[in-house]
Amino acid sequence: MAYTDQGKGAFTGRAADRGLFKVPTLRNIAVTGPYMHDGRFATLMEVVNHYSDGVADHPNLHFRLETLDDGQAGEAEVLRLDLSQAEKEALVAFLHTLTDEEVLVDEKYSDPFK
Ligand code: HEM
Repeated sequence: MAYTDQGKGAFTGRAADRGLFKVPTLRNIAVTGPYMHDGRFATLMEVVNHYSDGVADHPNLHFRLETLDDGQAGEAEVLRLDLSQAEKEALVAFLHTLTDEEVLVDEKYSDPFK
């Protein structure tokens, strides 16, 4: 299978690592867009829509994103959460609760080069 970006596989050279990316922290996620490794989504609603019906199947897809939650990749079908509009809005609202207003303005963390 051809990957536009091989992710971890580009570094390890292993087929089993193709298309894998680090799971990022969701802390302060509402203020750290754009989202995903290539910044393809501008908003959290776009990310949630992606999980609802946009995930593409591939051999190394994480088992949590497949229909059969058996701990093995590659056997089941890609999971479609098919979320309702209310569920999507609830998820986005939840993601907004992960914003730490204090850390955003704390001078201690304002200069990453110090
Ligand atoms: C409805 C459930 C989920 C929500 C709301 C969610 C939310 C998010 C968000 C907001 C991001 C973007 C983070 C950023 O760009 O800083 C993200 C990325 C990611 N999530 Fe999820 N996630 C969910 C389920 C999962 C599951 C089940 C997995 C499987 C292990 C997963 C693995 C990842 C990975 C690997 C990335 C990074 C992708 C990339 O860099 O392109 N997520 N998720």
